[in-house]
Amino acid sequence: MPDNNHSRTDAAHEAGVVSGPGVYDPVNQARVTINATVNGRQVRRTVPVHYRVIDFVREELKLTGNKEGCGSGECGTCSMFIDGALVKSCLVPVQKIAGRTLETIDDLDRDAGLTVVQQAFHKCGSSQCGYCIPGMVMAATATLRKRPHASIGEIREGLGGNVCRCTGYQKIVDAVALARDVLNGTKPAEALDEEQTESFIGSRTRRLDAPAKVSGAIKYAADMWMPNMLHMQVLRSPHPYARIERIDTTQARALPGVEAILTCDDVPGVDNFGVFIEDQPVMARGVVRYTGEAVAAVVADSPEVAHAAVALIRVTYSLLDGIFDAEAAMRDGMPQLHDFAPGNICKHTKIRKGDVEAGFADADVIVEETYQTSAVEHAYLEPEAGLAYLEPDGCVTVHSPSQNITHHRHMLAKILGRPINKVRMIMSTVGGGFGGKEDMIYQGMLALAAIKTRRPVRYVFTREESFIASAKRHPFLIRYRMGLKRNGRIVATEMKMIADGGAYAMSSPGVMNKSAILGPGPYAIPNVWVDAIAVYTNNTPSGAFRAFGAFQSEFSTESHLDLCAERLGMDPIALRRVNLMQDGAVTHTGQQLDRVLATACLDGAVAAAGWDDGVAYRSGRGEAPRDDLGRAGTREPCVPGVRFSQLIAELPAIHQTARELFAAAQEGDLK
Ligand code: FES
Ligand code: FES
Repeated sequence: MPDNNHSRTDAAHEAGVVSGPGVYDPVNQARVTINATVNGRQVRRTVPVHYRVIDFVREELKLTGNKEGCGSGECGTCSMFIDGALVKSCLVPVQKIAGRTLETIDDLDRDAGLTVVQQAFHKCGSSQCGYCIPGMVMAATATLRKRPHASIGEIREGLGGNVCRCTGYQKIVDAVALARDVLNGTKPAEALDEEQTESFIGSRTRRLDAPAKVSGAIKYAADMWMPNMLHMQVLRSPHPYARIERIDTTQARALPGVEAILTCDDVPGVDNFGVFIEDQPVMARGVVRYTGEAVAAVVADSPEVAHAAVALIRVTYSLLDGIFDAEAAMRDGMPQLHDFAPGNICKHTKIRKGDVEAGFADADVIVEETYQTSAVEHAYLEPEAGLAYLEPDGCVTVHSPSQNITHHRHMLAKILGRPINKVRMIMSTVGGGFGGKEDMIYQGMLALAAIKTRRPVRYVFTREESFIASAKRHPFLIRYRMGLKRNGRIVATEMKMIADGGAYAMSSPGVMNKSAILGPGPYAIPNVWVDAIAVYTNNTPSGAFRAFGAFQSEFSTESHLDLCAERLGMDPIALRRVNLMQDGAVTHTGQQLDRVLATACLDGAVAAAGWDDGVAYRSGRGEAPRDDLGRAGTREPCVPGVRFSQLIAELPAIHQTARELFAAAQEGDLK
């Protein structure tokens, strides 16, 4: 925890920008001339020596089909061929392609339409957001070039260096297998044709954007480019909680190529925005509340100069004691992160139904447990990016992969102090969002930069920046109490949920509402008490994420039902059957339901899972142990409610192991 009142002046990089022999100079960058054959054409270009092949292709040649997802060799979106060998171009210095042949996704078909592999990806519905697909197509092509009769295992192995965040991979593997069969002649070319259907409902239809995604032609925000375009980089707080005493941009402004530096003083309108609660400044105003919060933005001729100028901004901070525990943040005497939020409570959603204490008094069994979930990063393959510019009529236009574009437009108009018809937002293709692009975190800076410089401005996050600055799934602490009759009927439920909302509200209020409404599950319970509380802390803000809060609360409910089933000695499925809502049920928030399929859904899941037969090697029914997981018994059992009995059985061994480790540590034997 930082020392209170400790004053410190930080530059992003202490070394700043120096030049001289052998030292990187972002203004006068050393350059190298590259001759290469790219997609069958000779090219000769002089580029900065620090360029990687992905930079050469995307920034210099403007071939943007292949993407940069991670910049560190992990995701495979940048996969290309050098002299026919598949490489991750983000790891290869540009000098390595001098005199060699480079193939990118942009012209894989040699102007002949989609390749068989690309057609198969289209046919099989393999592209969702599409951001990984160029890399996948390259890896699939490499696999089939090397092994024309590749087995499914070999196909999977060939795709092993490529990550897809959307598809679950099966449709991608299906596509490669289909391409293999068509190329080998074991399936006719017509197998790639679109299926003709009379109706779209219940039919397999093709996505309209799929051809552009499998060919790499579709443009994401980072692929956009305009003449005279500038580049933005952002200085982010290294501290979780600190007062900003001074921002000195003198050195940064003096760097040749810097066009503008923006701070909160450049916001002309209302410098507080948020989808539910307007609590977030465009850039920190007087105080930073989480590590990674934007403090200033630099706009320059090149990303390198902008980056160097960011390093020259000197910020004097007075460090403050932060709050990192949501439950503790609500206690008396804790620092208050926002004036309008006593007890640091961002949102408290309550559901009260019946008389919960009377319900517990009537219960035969009461089961209590505490559950915790962690923050989760969305990890969409497309890092955040955007392009902003002024129209001739003065309207400012922002392209970005925003998942909540109407809200963002309204917020932006307020920030800029402009009428709504002078602000235009265009949703660029979203390379994966999962809710993470619902909350606005950088579009305000981009629009301000375009207005101030009167030139197009582009901003592309690095993967690290995306991790640091974007909202996460809310971590929850859930205290659960459930009262049941011996026959399994639930008579009372009490859920107290505390969610770490982080420094700003973002989507927390909506997430709390949904977690509370859906938390008790599809069960008919006469007495319900739910509290869902989002709390401000100095952690990274939490926001929208798939299921919008329902995941956390439902996880606890379903886990808790398993524990209750064990306590009652009931089959967990039977317990659910007893309690599921039926036609005519009224939800915990008062909605009458007229067609409830919950039991049918459970029946389907039970059948599909083979629940009644049980898992062979755990069911104790005399079948041979499974050996498809390496060796028998290597897998933890998938038996709901196992935790109590397993732990009780293992406790002596755990204690024994702990005692041995402790003794070894004292003896100094522990390696
Ligand atoms: S592997 Fe190159 S961008 Fe991810
Ligand atoms: S389709 Fe693969 S990351 Fe979205």
